[in-house]
Amino acid sequence: MLNRQTIEIIKSTVPVLREHGKTITTRFYKMMLTNHPELLNIFNHVNQKQGRQQTALANTVYAAAANIENLEAILPEVKRIAHKHRSLGIKPEHYPIVGKNLLAAIKDVLGDAATDEIINAWAEAYGVIADVFISVEDELYREAEQAPGGWRDFRNFVVVRKVKESDVITSFYLKPQDGGPISTFQPGQYISVKLAIPGETYTHIRQYSLSDSPGKDYYRISVKREDAAEGRPAGIVSTYLHDHVREGDVLPISAPAGDFVLDTSIETPVVLLSGGVGLTPLVSMLNTLVERQPQRRVHFIHAARSSRTHALKEHVAALADRHEALSFHVVYSQPTEDDRAERRFDKEGYIDLPWLQSILPDNQADFYFCGPVPFMKTVYRALQDWGVPEERIHFEFFGPMGSLNA
Ligand SMILES: Cc1cc2nc3c(=O)[nH]c(=O)nc-3n(C[C@H](O)[C@H](O)[C@H](O)COP(=O)(O)OP(=O)(O)OC[C@H]3O[C@@H](n4cnc5c(N)ncnc54)[C@H](O)[C@@H]3O)c2cc1C
Ligand code: HEM
Repeated sequence: MLNRQTIEIIKSTVPVLREHGKTITTRFYKMMLTNHPELLNIFNHVNQKQGRQQTALANTVYAAAANIENLEAILPEVKRIAHKHRSLGIKPEHYPIVGKNLLAAIKDVLGDAATDEIINAWAEAYGVIADVFISVEDELYREAEQAPGGWRDFRNFVVVRKVKESDVITSFYLKPQDGGPISTFQPGQYISVKLAIPGETYTHIRQYSLSDSPGKDYYRISVKREDAAEGRPAGIVSTYLHDHVREGDVLPISAPAGDFVLDTSIETPVVLLSGGVGLTPLVSMLNTLVERQPQRRVHFIHAARSSRTHALKEHVAALADRHEALSFHVVYSQPTEDDRAERRFDKEGYIDLPWLQSILPDNQADFYFCGPVPFMKTVYRALQDWGVPEERIHFEFFGPMGSLNA
């Protein structure tokens, strides 16, 4: 445990860190990746460039420092990050590398203000925080490995089917190359895919939510292609999967992870809201609900640009036809002429609170949502304005966790 003096130093330097947090972590990443280029096999290069990862790490460091006497308080956040770390293959031996470079960056940015006393206090505090992560992750690795059909790191899967779901989304059905069983998962969880792309120096790892229910002999992921657009290059992994990965090809993937999961032990109504490709974890939840809890009330609300980009529409519509407890609502922001003529959507524009109140009986439900950040912010604000308690609001970011407060 840290002594009183160390705790005081840590607490008194939190404001300094808040002020310089992002500069420190940006510096830290540059240093660490220069000293350990092999880590470029793990870190998402684009997230680094855009600063998303730096913000996420900086926020966690503040939270940990502010709670250094009571790290229990940030345990839920540690667990969420630990799932991501486990899915990426982060190991105990990586922690001293992060610690060393983080301290060097603090020293660099704070200059003379970073006395030996401060640096030593932070070294100690980092050790405590790192130990919490390492032990939570150790438990997750053990669970992943010991689950029936489970495994510890990456395991080779064969693409057994590739199915186009919309103009931009394609599903990949994956079975293990070794022919063995696969572990079950909780609907809402994701896997990581590790790609060695010819011509690229480093491997690229990305997360994809499992888009079908558990209990099958395959995993399914559904991937949106991120094409090049003004000012931004094409997405590396998604376009490679779409354009070059074929049936019969092999992809290393890590075992299912994540804490954005459907609670199937209760019977409360569920509202599943998705924007664009954010529908994948929600379709997994939906499929699970109709299979395992067919009486449970479910509202599936999907927002897309138009029917051209609306994936898995027939699937969800067919389920809604067969299941009285399920209702399906579609929101298009740019419907086509045919969408209008055939009345293929329920609302034009974006989801808002008055519309939600018009289609839902009340706010007494568990709300799960996922989609682009502006969509998530809009939905979150609407649910808060409606008085939905935080413990009934569940969401997943398709990137490093950010803030939903506008
Ligand atoms: C838990 C989780 C679950 C996910 N589930 C899914 C899923 O089910 N389906 C799915 O399709 N995706 C999912 N994702 C997102 C997925 O992991 C990838 O982020 C996504 O496929 C894009 O990866 P990429 O390699 O194609 O793009 P990247 O190469 O990582 O680029 C990301 C974006 O940044 C843009 N970009 C790249 N470089 C720059 C630059 N220098 N300046 C500005 N912009 C730039 C690209 O155009 C692209 O739009 C999930 C993510 C998480 C964290
Ligand atoms: C106590 C130390 C650490 C803290 C506080 C921390 C914090 C975080 C946070 C907040 C995220 C973002 C998670 C999300 O929102 O999804 C993250 C992701 C990540 N972390 Fe850590 N981390 C630590 C140690 C490490 C170590 C030791 C490594 C490996 C060298 C590592 C590698 C990664 C990677 C690769 C990602 C995903 C980045 C991306 O794809 O953009 N982390 N970490």
